[in-house]
Formats: sequence, structure tokens, C-alpha cells
Amino acid sequence: MTSNTLFEARRHEEILEQTIPASTRPAFHLSPRTGWMNDPNGFSYYKGQYHLFYQYYPYSCKWGPMHWGHAVSDDLLHWQYLPAALAPDTPIDGAGCFSGSAVELDDGRQLLLYTGVSSGALHPDGTHQDFQNQCVAVGDGRDYQKYPGNPVIRPDNLPNGGSIYDFRDPKAWKEPDGSYRCVVGNRPADGSGQILLYASPDGFHWQLESVLAENKNRIGLMWECPDFFELDGKHVLLVSPQDMEPAGFEYHNGNGTVGFIGTLDREQMRFVEEHNQALDYGIDFYAPQTVLTPDGRRVMIGWMQNWDTLAIASLKATWFGQMTIPRELSIRNGRLYQWPIRELDALRSGYVHYENVRVSGEKVLEGIRGRQVDLTVRLRPGDKDNIYKKFAVWFGQNEKYHTGISFRPYESILKIDRKFSGSRRAIIHQRRCLVPKTGGVLSFRMILDRFSAEIFINDGEQTVTATVPTDPSVDGIKFISDGDVLMDIEKYDLDLDRGEEAANG
Ligand code: FRU
Repeated sequence: MTSNTLFEARRHEEILEQTIPASTRPAFHLSPRTGWMNDPNGFSYYKGQYHLFYQYYPYSCKWGPMHWGHAVSDDLLHWQYLPAALAPDTPIDGAGCFSGSAVELDDGRQLLLYTGVSSGALHPDGTHQDFQNQCVAVGDGRDYQKYPGNPVIRPDNLPNGGSIYDFRDPKAWKEPDGSYRCVVGNRPADGSGQILLYASPDGFHWQLESVLAENKNRIGLMWECPDFFELDGKHVLLVSPQDMEPAGFEYHNGNGTVGFIGTLDREQMRFVEEHNQALDYGIDFYAPQTVLTPDGRRVMIGWMQNWDTLAIASLKATWFGQMTIPRELSIRNGRLYQWPIRELDALRSGYVHYENVRVSGEKVLEGIRGRQVDLTVRLRPGDKDNIYKKFAVWFGQNEKYHTGISFRPYESILKIDRKFSGSRRAIIHQRRCLVPKTGGVLSFRMILDRFSAEIFINDGEQTVTATVPTDPSVDGIKFISDGDVLMDIEKYDLDLDRGEEAANG
């Protein structure tokens, strides 16, 4: 049975979608079918396709009572919208179907595990705190029925002191023995964050197994959107902390993302942390979630946005929010590395390359332009005894606009700056990132889409992601150097149609 709320949402999105020309959307990054999108949800491989759900408010470009949008893909790049999967239509999730995940049940149905938000009592000052519980819905990959026994994880499943108001974002997986586990974000009595581990024999009945990890006020406060998996012989915990204070160049103010590498103490079922790092050093990256591909790759996708810079939205926006490019994860030298999924290679055409180009001052290269490009830049000093002071690539560039990636080898700092990108808002437009010192040698791969830039530094050791509001017709690329630089450049255009041609032979 489809509720009226879901029926209305599905009807609305089907009609309104027609008014959003594809040319006004990102070319190969997923954007909402209509209205607003935040976190990726239910990222899964089911019945031979990738499924990606997302936090969704179809009725406007602002956050509102959360639905789950839904899209499927064969290659994680060509997405096809399906009807909205969940709407806030029961007493237990009437204030929103918040983030969650998807697993396949033994009987072949797909289980969505999500946070149901229900309205709390109104305080005299007009505020109210909503309660958060974990709920399930079961379906066939298109239509989902909410379980009458919801919620399946309730306040009485919380450890002592755990908040009933900040208790969200279950990420579930299946264990080799056929049972299920999930991690959930929660705020303990110390006011910061903790990750709870729950176990279930069937996906419907859940027991608290352990407090997997505790923040203890070290990195931000509440930890949202956990993910937990094995990778390259280690265990990895991803969290998205709220209310961060900066820590050197590693963590910045506001919402952030952290990747912990460690091991799982199976006696205590506690995560033993060995290393932590920012997952992205740019402006717009949050709430990532991963999927294990059939060929064994751990692929992560994030919401390419920042809660504190929503004002970047165009005044004429017909959609808001987009996902990052899916990224393959690996652990190298004790760090998490990210690299654009290899499926992206099929979208490439128009190869142009240059070697040993000397840059001193400004340089524009024939054939190097575009806003849907895959561009690799390899730098080294033109004179080893007199290393250049600063190098920059400007893209989305004309006389008036540009967004810059600059690198200062003496400080070893790479910066993204979109101050001149056409933004009309007084929000953060820059972020800096400390990269390993190598005497002016640096390489980075830039994936540009119509409204974004993702920079993968040194084979994916660090990434820098930002949305870029500049009109996509502004497509100049310029290289600038203060001092002598030698650079190699490789460029491809990226086009979804190209991928279709390849797929159709
Ligand atoms: C993170 C988040 C989640 C929550 C969702 C609500 O961006 O705050 O914790 O489930 O967004 O839309």
C-alpha cells in the first residue's frame, strides 16, 4: 500500500522533473530528481544493479521533512531515477525518514534500515526536540512496505546515558554467518558522540552488542552517519562529526568527515583505533557511505555539500545537492586513499597531453579547456636550486571568473579558492590542505563536472572537493606560476554519452 504522502511525492517528482533540463544539472554526478538532496542512503548492490537512495525533500530546494529519493545504475555513473522510496507517513517517522542503509534478506527482499523521527513535545519557548528511533521497510528494489513492528531499535536498546534525540543513521551489513550488524550514531552523556553496534539474526530484531567507538569530545561533538567495514586487512570506521573545531590543517571548523583505521577487538567488540584522518580537505564533502562491489571494491560516495555553506545555492535553483563521484578506497602506508571509480575511464574522450611544459608566469595550452574534464597535472621545479614559490591552475575561467587550485611548495600547502566563482554569498570559499613535502614535486588529478571540482592529490592520498557555481559555459583553464615549473598535463573530456556508446559497442 502506498500512503498518500508517498503517492503525492511520487506524482510531484514525476511532473516537476520535466521542468528541469538535463543541461542545468551536473553531467555525471547524481543530483535530486526534484528539490533537495542530502546524505547518500542505502548504497547497495541488489538484483544486479547499484541502488543509491538519498535524503530528499522533493517539494523545494530547502531541507524539509525527509523522504528517501531513489536511483539505480549499472556503472555508478549513469543513474536512472526510480520513484521515491520512503515518505514520512507513519507516527514513528512522521517528522522524517532520516539516513540509513540497505541489505538483502535471505528471501531475496531488500531491507531498508533508517532513522524514523517523531515529533517531541513542544517546549514553552516554541522549540521541540524530535525523538529518533531505527525503523525498517522491506521491498523489491522499487516499492517498500514499512514494518508494522517499527521501531526496531528503540531507546530501551540504548546504553545508559545515550540520547534519545541524537540516535541516528544506521549502516547495516550481513555477516558471513548470515546474521546482521549495524552501526548507529548516538550522543552519550558527555555531549559528544559514540558509535553503537547492534546485532540481529533476521534484520528485524536487534540487540545492542557494544559501544564500538567513543569520541570523548576529541573530534567534534555528535558523530553522524557511521560506516564500518574491513579493508586491506584492517577495520575502517567512517564518521561525520558535527561542531568541529579545527586541528592544524587536518580538521576544519563545522561539519567534517573522519576516517579511522584500526582493528576490531572481537572479545569486547570494540574498535581499536590506530590512525585518524580527514576524508576530504575541501569545502563540500559530508556523510559518506560505502558499498562493496561484486568484484570486491569498497566504493565510497559522499554528499558534495557542506551544511554551513548552503547559501551557495543559485537564486534560480531548480534542484539542490549532489553526490560526489564514487571513489574506490584502499589503505596504503597506513592511510586511506581514494581514487575515482575505474568505470569513469569509459566516459573519457579527446585525449590531449603535454610533457615538460615550462611555466613561468601565465600559460594557456591549446586543447586544454572544459568543465567536464579529467585533468592530471604533474609538477616539478624548473630549477631544483631555486624552487618556484607558487603554482596555480585556474578553471571555470574567463576575464571575470575563476576557481583556483594553488600550491606553495615552501609551505607545502595546496589551496582551493572559489572566491571568484560567481558566488554572491559571504560564506567559506577557500580551504587549505597540508601535503607531504617533496621539494616542489606534486601530482593531482582533477575531476571537473558542471558544478563541482574533485581533486585527488598524489594518487589519492588526499582529496579536495568543492561545488563550483560558475556557469558551465565558462570553461577556460589557465596555469600560473611564480618561478619556474615544469609540468606534464593529461586531459580527457568526460561525457556520459561516450560511456553509453562504449557500453553499446
Ligand atoms: C547528516 C544528517 C543525518 C541525518 C540527516 C537528516 O547530514 O544530519 O545525521 O540522518 O542528515 O537529513
